[in-house]
Amino acid sequence: MGSMPKYMFLNMAMALISLQQLRLLCLCEGCWEQERISLLKLKASFSFQPSSSVEGSDCCEWELVECNNITRRVISLDLNHRRNDWHLGPWYLNVSDFLVFDDLQILDLSSNFIHFCLQNQVQGIQSFSNLQVLYLDEIRDLDRNTLQQLLKVFSSVTQLYLRYNKFNGMISSEDFRDLDNLMKLSLDFSSVGDNFIQSIGAFTSLKILSLCGCDINGILPYKDWSNLKYLEELYLRHNNLSGTIPLSFVNMTSLRVLEISGNKFSGNIATALASLTSLESLSFSYNQFQVPVSFASFANHSNLTVIDGIENEVIPDPNPTQFHNWIPKFQLQVFSLSSTINTNTTLSFPNFFLYQHNLTKIHFTNCKFQGEIPTWLFENNTNLKYFKLKSCSFTGQIQLPSHPNPNLLQFDVSFNAIRGRIPSNISLIFPNLQHLTMTRNELGGPIPGSFGQMNSLMTLVLDHNYLSGEIPENISASSSPLGLLDLSANNLTGKLFPTLLTLSGLCYLYFDGNGFEGTIPKSLSNSSLQVLDISRNQLVGELPLWIGNWSNLQVIYMSDNHLEGFIPIEFCKLENLVALDLSGNNLSGSFPSCTSMTCLKYVHLGNNKLSGVLGRYGRVFSSNSSLVSLDLGDNDLNGRFPDWIGSLTTLNILILRGNGLMGRIPNQLCLMTGLTIIDLSHNSLSGPIPSCLSNITFKTIEQQVGGIENFTRGMRIRGHDSRGLNSLIYLQEQVDFTTKMLDQRFYGNVLALLIGIDLSHNELEGDIPPELGNWTEIHSLNLSHNYLTGQIPVSFSNLRQIESLDLSFNKLNGRIPSQLSQLNFLAVFSVAHNNLSGPTLDREGQFSTFEESSYEDNPFLCGPSLHKSCIINGGQDEDDDDGGGGGGGGFIDMGVFNITFAVSYILILLGIAAVLYINPYWRRAWFYFIEFVINSCYYFFVDNLNLSNYHVIFH
Ligand SMILES: *[C@@H]1O[C@H](CO)[C@@H](O)[C@H](O)[C@H]1NC(C)=O
Ligand SMILES: *[C@@H]1O[C@H](CO)[C@@H](O)[C@H](O)[C@H]1NC(C)=O
Ligand SMILES: *[C@@H]1O[C@H](CO)[C@@H](O)[C@H](O)[C@H]1NC(C)=O
Ligand SMILES: *[C@@H]1O[C@H](CO)[C@@H](O)[C@H](O)[C@H]1NC(C)=O
Repeated sequence: MGSMPKYMFLNMAMALISLQQLRLLCLCEGCWEQERISLLKLKASFSFQPSSSVEGSDCCEWELVECNNITRRVISLDLNHRRNDWHLGPWYLNVSDFLVFDDLQILDLSSNFIHFCLQNQVQGIQSFSNLQVLYLDEIRDLDRNTLQQLLKVFSSVTQLYLRYNKFNGMISSEDFRDLDNLMKLSLDFSSVGDNFIQSIGAFTSLKILSLCGCDINGILPYKDWSNLKYLEELYLRHNNLSGTIPLSFVNMTSLRVLEISGNKFSGNIATALASLTSLESLSFSYNQFQVPVSFASFANHSNLTVIDGIENEVIPDPNPTQFHNWIPKFQLQVFSLSSTINTNTTLSFPNFFLYQHNLTKIHFTNCKFQGEIPTWLFENNTNLKYFKLKSCSFTGQIQLPSHPNPNLLQFDVSFNAIRGRIPSNISLIFPNLQHLTMTRNELGGPIPGSFGQMNSLMTLVLDHNYLSGEIPENISASSSPLGLLDLSANNLTGKLFPTLLTLSGLCYLYFDGNGFEGTIPKSLSNSSLQVLDISRNQLVGELPLWIGNWSNLQVIYMSDNHLEGFIPIEFCKLENLVALDLSGNNLSGSFPSCTSMTCLKYVHLGNNKLSGVLGRYGRVFSSNSSLVSLDLGDNDLNGRFPDWIGSLTTLNILILRGNGLMGRIPNQLCLMTGLTIIDLSHNSLSGPIPSCLSNITFKTIEQQVGGIENFTRGMRIRGHDSRGLNSLIYLQEQVDFTTKMLDQRFYGNVLALLIGIDLSHNELEGDIPPELGNWTEIHSLNLSHNYLTGQIPVSFSNLRQIESLDLSFNKLNGRIPSQLSQLNFLAVFSVAHNNLSGPTLDREGQFSTFEESSYEDNPFLCGPSLHKSCIINGGQDEDDDDGGGGGGGGFIDMGVFNITFAVSYILILLGIAAVLYINPYWRRAWFYFIEFVINSCYYFFVDNLNLSNYHVIFH
């Protein structure tokens, strides 16, 4: 009974509203008056702009509003990002304000700071019954409770977007219970919690479900997928899901799109999805799947067009003969596969490609195939745009197709073993090619001049081959968009300039490691170049002045040429310069004293003839707070160690080797706690080694910035995305450092792993500070060729990572601490040419490899490595002031021992002889006893002294 009056009241109310509508919602302004009023009201809260001039007119014409062309009712309202200024505070949105928009189908409230005022009466009414698409992305402070209430109000929606939300309190599929018609749900990049996926079976009506980047851990549920019979698209990209694909996936008989890239799924993907014949697009890149290269189990997937599975484990077909000549029902458009595992087994190139006609992209990386590059694919697949077969052991020559393919944009066959010449008709066959990459093959012969006819070529990468001859003058069309040209590490010769002149649009140029010769011309026009690498050639002459005008330059590598003269002051204009390597030339003078190069991080000027007082370089380098590497080694710098060194707190690498620096090593050096490589060798530094150097903790820059600058030890430069160039360009930094007594060159990543200090060949004196034992991370320490005195610190046994320790040519005395034998990684060790005494280290572990040369020229040192028995030196040790430098192994003074042993021996012998003479029972016992005494003495001394040369005493 109670419900009757309620309904009557409701009907009456509705009728009144209808009357109202007749009056208010007239079409005189082109849109319904009441909707216009409500929109104006909304405008007060949201910063959307019916500009004042149009305020009065047709609201259907307003920005963000869309009306039905016939009824002129608002059907779509886009309030995305209208209240995004968090400082304004939240907007208290009254949901009933939207009730007037009867025909509203699409509502976008995303990217706002909203507090929803949800009135209870709204819920019962048939409101928003036409609303189908609701965007609630990135609503600040949207919690689970509010969401539940909102979904009651907007229960008619069929498409719901809830991306980028942080639900305070995890949500569950229960919250969506009222949405009977929900067909599409996207929760991408929202924190849904690990349990959400477990209740997935509740979404029985869904056609599209997207849960990308939701940070979901765990495994997929095994059963519930059977409920999702209507699911057509499932996106689970970028989560932490693991385990295998559940068997019940096969019951999602409508599934067309499956996107599970970027998880940790495992198992054999081809068998797991063998029955899912409805699949059209399958993406599973960046997982741990096993992927049989033939995909024979997909033979009946007649609608499959996309297989995208890079970075998994590609395996040979378990049963190759069974599927040998199967004919696929699918026609692929995109195929992409790469292996994270290097298998020795050669794979056979999948047969099904013989039957493909629609390919637009084919990509294999790191799959071991045999034979020639399958360019026959071009014959059937005339729509091919991307052809990438990288690091797949292909051999032979490149056979271009017989007919031109104007669609091809990318051709990448790098890291194979392809021989022969680059076909000169490549410009005719692939006339619209944009990216050509043939890095690291065995290509020879000249660079075809016809590249100049490829009007779309943006990237030409031919490095690490055996290409010879000169660069063709017309390597690039005059109007060409060529942005990246890499010819490094070939056998190219001739003049580098003026070819460079014609390449006006280049951003990245790598000509390093060839035989280019000649001078750099005095004038060149402006350039867009960002990276210029012409190192390791035979260039002569002076550095050009024009370089200062190339203001986009971020990297200049000109090392290892024969360049001479001064570094021009024009370099100071390069305010964007990040890396400068001019090492290995004959440059003289000093570095221009400027403060404008604030981006500089990597400076390598070693092995030149730069001169002047090091202190003067402070202006340019100390004003730069982000310097990572400073290499001024092997020049003619002199003077004292400047104080400004301490201001380079971000420095990782400091190389001042081979100059004429004098004076003490200042304590300021201890402020540079991020140093990993310090080379001050071959100078005239004097005074003690500062003990505060132990403050240096060898945190590499990656660790300091928490991995934000996750570059290789070289650098990462952003490329020109707009031009389709490789967006990230890697450059390798290089450093020469002597470790393990070898001059070595360290590159890129390896550099980040090297931690070493070289103070050798100076005039340092005093004791070695025991604090240096704190350098538990150090790999290489060289203090040789100084005047260091005192003992080798026992604390050096803490240098657990050390591989090379050189203390030779000093005045060290005392014993070698026996604890050093704990240094398990030591490969090079020398204490030769000192005044050390006592025994050498036991020939155990690493120390079994060190021969005489490690110890020689220490007059009082003895031991097997020196072929000198310590017993002969016995008397010597008595005089030595053994302050604890060694001897931890139970060293006993042999002189004293021998005398007391002999006396006791004679006394006991006499005593026993007397007893034996008197008592025959004791006589028999004696023979057992004597055997025991000799054996136990023998073992006692062997165990305790552990010095094999003492055995002789007891035999
Ligand atoms: C309404 O008109 C616009 C252009 O006047 C047109 O683009 C749109 O498709 C039409 N919409 C309908 C539903 O007819
Ligand atoms: C698929 O669904 C059917 C019926 O709903 C069920 O009997 C079968 O066990 C399911 N298969 C799997 C692998 O879950
Ligand atoms: C392939 O697609 C067609 C058209 O959409 C559909 O009728 C057919 O059932 C699909 N095949 C499979 C195996 O799902
Ligand atoms: C693969 O080759 C490496 C050396 O090239 C060899 O040590 C290894 O045993 C081989 N593995 C297999 C599975 O054949």
